[in-house]
Amino acid sequence: MPDTLHWLAGRMAVVTGASRGIGRATAEAIAKSGAHVVMAARDREALEAVAGGIREAGGAATPVLADVSRAEDVDRLFTVAGRIGRPAALVCAAGVLSRVPFEETTRRTWDETLGINLTGVFLCCRAAFAAMRRAGEGRIVTIASLSGIYATEKFAGLAAYNVSKYGVIGLTEAIAVEGREHGISAFCISPGAVDTEMLRRANPDLRPGLTPGDVADLIIELLDKPWAAASGANIPLFSNA
Ligand SMILES: NC(=O)c1ccc[n+]([C@@H]2O[C@H](COP(=O)([O-])OP(=O)(O)OC[C@H]3O[C@@H](n4cnc5c(N)ncnc54)[C@H](OP(=O)(O)O)[C@@H]3O)[C@@H](O)[C@H]2O)c1
Repeated sequence: MPDTLHWLAGRMAVVTGASRGIGRATAEAIAKSGAHVVMAARDREALEAVAGGIREAGGAATPVLADVSRAEDVDRLFTVAGRIGRPAALVCAAGVLSRVPFEETTRRTWDETLGINLTGVFLCCRAAFAAMRRAGEGRIVTIASLSGIYATEKFAGLAAYNVSKYGVIGLTEAIAVEGREHGISAFCISPGAVDTEMLRRANPDLRPGLTPGDVADLIIELLDKPWAAASGANIPLFSNA
């Protein structure tokens, strides 16, 4: 049953990367908080299955097939969302990781990683920002990584991924600066190892210290009660164990 005590209750939120992992847990948590969740990803079957589960649990969900690196897909995502309501919240969880030695990093891998992990966040945030500015309120959460923070331990083979995450942290700060006068907050979360398919494929030996639910819980806190004075902050998340 949706919990109507949340700020999210009765509002509409867009979540990217909602077909699995952190995005899925976030979409489910947002729906449980009483918001209509508009969910984006590329895998139709997986996305519809998650949306179906949310509806069965009494929540409201609309799946939209979209590749966040494609401007036309992002336009369509926000057009569909706009028919449902005004996007009060946006969570950018879509992301990819290709582990390949630096010298062997092709232009294609570089462009795909930056295109999804950074340009995708830019396109979605820009679309949401316009609607939020008109409404005078909005709450954005992006997801970077400990890999995007200076002086944390880095893993080999992640040049493109790491750079994309440094970019997301900077982009979030820039959005917070321009959002402040319009009542728009923007926070970035930078988790360590989270138990998802991405981690299992990239680094099967790494023991995850976080579950997707841990990250989703923090996102709900940030959406429910954002600290305006701290908007723009990047929050590193180490182990919950
Ligand atoms: N797992 C970790 O340890 C960890 C740590 C730090 C940060 N992160 C970050 O957390 C975010 C979520 O990762 P995760 O661990 O949950 O990974 P995941 O399980 O692989 O899920 C990634 C999600 O992104 C979606 N996605 C990928 N490319 C997309 C595109 N072009 N357009 C739309 N959706 C796309 C995928 O759906 P489709 O394939 O259906 O499109 C999927 O829903 C990512 O930004 C990741 O970098 C993860």
